[in-house]
Amino acid sequence: MAAKKIGVLTGGGDCPGLNAVIRAVAKTCLRRGCAVVGFRDGYAGLVENRFLEITDSSVSGILDRGGTVLGTSNIANPLAYTLPPYGTPASPSDMSGRVKEVFKEHGLDALVAIGGDGSMTIALELLRRGLPVVGVPKTIDNDLAATDVTFGFDSALAVASDAVDKVHTTAESHHRVIVVETMGRYAGWIALRAGIAGGGDVILIPEIPFSPEAVCAAIDSRRKRGKRFSIVVAAEGAVNLKGEQVVAKVVEGSPEPLRLGGIGYRIGEIVEKGCGIETRVVVLGHLQRGGTPTAHDRWLATRYGVHAAELALEGRHGMMSALHGTKITEVPIEEAVRHLRRVDPLGEEVKAARSVGTSFGSPEEITGKGGSCS
Ligand code: F6P
Repeated sequence: MAAKKIGVLTGGGDCPGLNAVIRAVAKTCLRRGCAVVGFRDGYAGLVENRFLEITDSSVSGILDRGGTVLGTSNIANPLAYTLPPYGTPASPSDMSGRVKEVFKEHGLDALVAIGGDGSMTIALELLRRGLPVVGVPKTIDNDLAATDVTFGFDSALAVASDAVDKVHTTAESHHRVIVVETMGRYAGWIALRAGIAGGGDVILIPEIPFSPEAVCAAIDSRRKRGKRFSIVVAAEGAVNLKGEQVVAKVVEGSPEPLRLGGIGYRIGEIVEKGCGIETRVVVLGHLQRGGTPTAHDRWLATRYGVHAAELALEGRHGMMSALHGTKITEVPIEEAVRHLRRVDPLGEEVKAARSVGTSFGSPEEITGKGGSCS
């Protein structure tokens, strides 16, 4: 039997393309006579029953808008709810019973949850409690397993590679090193691809631990070859040989409390001291999450949204839209959250970067025992 009412929410950090998904879900459902309700501020709206009845006009003109018209939250978790008025940060409560009531009050046949790793993990828990949920893979980090790419990643990559392009001219004019810090959490996709696309000289990612000596050696080697400037692209999650990352802050109550950030400044100091070259640092931060989605992200988000709506309408719960090759398909949400999709340190992309002379700051680059970039 076809579903009659579908809920939709956007959870976790925002990213370009969320509105394109909301629009695609809404239009697909509305055109088939199914009502759509949008919950505000991610899972918070679902617990607190804050919502918006979605009509054709409410999703008109939002395809190319960044952010999310529904609002989002990367703290609200119905299974350990800490937001007022349902509890305090000191007493997380399981609000899944309340979520069930809200489902009932609206007569929802399914919920489309648009989110990353954290939001899909919550979706899975709701599924296990008998709630009909379908997922759409979102995140600029591109770290969700079971899909080739998440929407939002291409837009973030466009910002990051543009930044790497832009710092080239000023670094060259002043004979400086410029470190560009990207987002990406525990995956190095943004740094790797922006570094390759923008011609970064050193790329530091969480999947390949760096040594300060190797970073300096790579920059020194460029200087000896007459190159008076260098660009380092550092993922916020880059790790040193001890496996240490730089944490910017801890967000109490968040399902994933650690916020990475600040590695760019550490690398800047290492380079300035170790190479004696004046260094500047650019932290791209939330610029990578803002603004207009690229054409690719709008195209992908629309396809993901349409497919998720179809899954919801057909009662195929527990599935998440996914891209395999060029084909839109679906995978169990359980599979999508099983592990993070990270860069393969020995994979073709890293090899290609090494082949064109890029350093990853690996100690082997100095000892010559493989991974050489010189
Ligand atoms: O997951 C997306 C992301 O932008 C990460 O790349 C980054 O580490 C994190 O979210 C930042 O979160 P917040 O918006 O809470 O600072």
